Amino acid sequence: MCGIVGIVSNQSVSKRLIEGLTRLEYRGYDSAGIAVINGQGIKRRRAPGKIINLQHVLDDSPIDGTCGIAHTRWATHGKPNMENAHPHQAGNVAIVHNGIIENFKPLREELARKGHVFATQTDSEVIAHLIQYFLDKAMDEESAFLACVERLEGAYAVAALIGKDNQTLFAARHGSPLVVGFGEGEMFVGSDAFALAPFTKRVLYLEEGDSAVVKIDDVCVRDKSGEEVTREIMTASISAVMAEKGNYRHFMEKEIHEQPEALARTIAAYMDPETNLPLLGDAAPFLRDAERLVAIACGTAYLAASVGKYWFEGLAGVHVETDIASEFRYRTPALPKKNGTALFISQSGETADTLAAMRYCNRAGLDTIGVLNAPESSIARETNAIMRTLAGPEIGVASTKAFTAQLAVLAMGAIGMAHLRGSLSQADTQIHLMALETLPELAQQALTVKAQCEAIAPILATAKQSFFIGRGVYYPLALEGALKLKEITYLPAEGYAAGELKHGPIALIEDGTPVVVIAPTDALIEKTISNVEEVAARGAKVIAITDEAGAEQFKDSTKDIIILPDMPGLTGPIISAIPLQFLAYFTALKLGTNLDQPRNLAKSVTVE
Ligand code: F6R
Repeated sequence: MCGIVGIVSNQSVSKRLIEGLTRLEYRGYDSAGIAVINGQGIKRRRAPGKIINLQHVLDDSPIDGTCGIAHTRWATHGKPNMENAHPHQAGNVAIVHNGIIENFKPLREELARKGHVFATQTDSEVIAHLIQYFLDKAMDEESAFLACVERLEGAYAVAALIGKDNQTLFAARHGSPLVVGFGEGEMFVGSDAFALAPFTKRVLYLEEGDSAVVKIDDVCVRDKSGEEVTREIMTASISAVMAEKGNYRHFMEKEIHEQPEALARTIAAYMDPETNLPLLGDAAPFLRDAERLVAIACGTAYLAASVGKYWFEGLAGVHVETDIASEFRYRTPALPKKNGTALFISQSGETADTLAAMRYCNRAGLDTIGVLNAPESSIARETNAIMRTLAGPEIGVASTKAFTAQLAVLAMGAIGMAHLRGSLSQADTQIHLMALETLPELAQQALTVKAQCEAIAPILATAKQSFFIGRGVYYPLALEGALKLKEITYLPAEGYAAGELKHGPIALIEDGTPVVVIAPTDALIEKTISNVEEVAARGAKVIAITDEAGAEQFKDSTKDIIILPDMPGLTGPIISAIPLQFLAYFTALKLGTNLDQPRNLAKSVTVE
């Protein structure tokens, strides 16, 4: 949830720490800070809010050194103010931390009894004090760091500066990701390879329980038993070029426009050019043999899983259970004893709840498949098979192209599974695949509704609350439309199954309440139209997202009809996401919120 970067070099590091940190700002932007060691010991600068505020502090009061750490925070314990900003310092120790130290209270009390005075309300500060405590016991730096890590419970990625040593960084991971980067005469640590991309692509991923002593030209990694271990050095696939907004106002706008390309890449990766059949790679046997599927994810990714359920059940006839990761892991799910396959859908591959649910399924003996956008992520490294979404880096906090790429992969998975199990004939398989191949073109056409969405956005921007409704595969889309609007506009919005409105929520409809209905032509459109008439009769302002044929049927209920191209096979929900993204985008633009970094949110939720 927070971002960490560290550099040990024989050149100055401050500027580059900020550069690396900026690439991690998607992880949190409640406060930022930096600490360096130079001839005068540890110096730090911190600021509440975004990295730009820290930059202003540094402009007024520069610090530099050849070894340093930096942090961008998404607050968990303690307010997002300057006092609680990382790095935290105790004597000769400065640390940055991502995760939650679950036993921080007893540790803090124990250290307070020994005379340690705490300056913050964070769980993280205890790490600095604990290291200092062990240094005071005459331990050397590495022993003090390891002794500290041994006492920590919970999730952490930690980087530390210790003593007066400006040649060494100390790092450890348990439950939160951390990579070590190899440069020329300098070394790095970072929350992900993207942060280190301007400096190096040669990285090693610390594994659970690893700690590392990072020097200018070497790293010593120890596993959780303290044994020295060798971890493979890899070339990170991430582009070294800083993701730029180009001519777009926001990353979200750019990423909405990147969908034709992202869908083309994703679909191509799953099409076998020789057989013209779906190419499911390592996932194929798990899908072919599954007696039951469990699909687990969070937020928007969960809504992709919910659409997938309709497809897998409809085409492959397999029972699919979907669950929100944070719920799944804390109940006692009745899992299949044999031939159970669990899908984990995640853009980042780092979402703590999804990761924990995946580990649970691994332990329970299920075959696990990650549907992932980040191929080097924690989930990618621990699942039995990966189905990649090739959306490219998604920087805007609100997921857009990753969602539609997840849907495309799930569609391919469902068609492929159905074909492998013989529930879809060769001819029908081809028809479905040909439909998916039109996705890039359809997405391109769907982008043309942009101006119309901009014109409709004031209706949503001025409403007390809005509703999004749909049936079948468009029900999860309704939830996604409402989620997108809520997270970037801060306006109340609810998604409902269209047939469910009359069981309660219809009481909320007043004169002028916006109801966005997602209903391209399908077997259920007539029924959805009846539900739309029910709300229109009660004064709702209906906004319909449909196709040419559907538009005919909506014309008595509303003038605000967003017409998408005809969407064959499984393409409907994928393409229908685009106007929902635009509606949220333009509503937020009108309200002037920070669309790429909405309040209280972060891109990658690595805490429970
Ligand atoms: C909403 C959004 C979130 C994420 C969720 C899961 O726009 O982006 O709801 O979908 O936090 O994140 P990943 O996919 O990284 O596991």
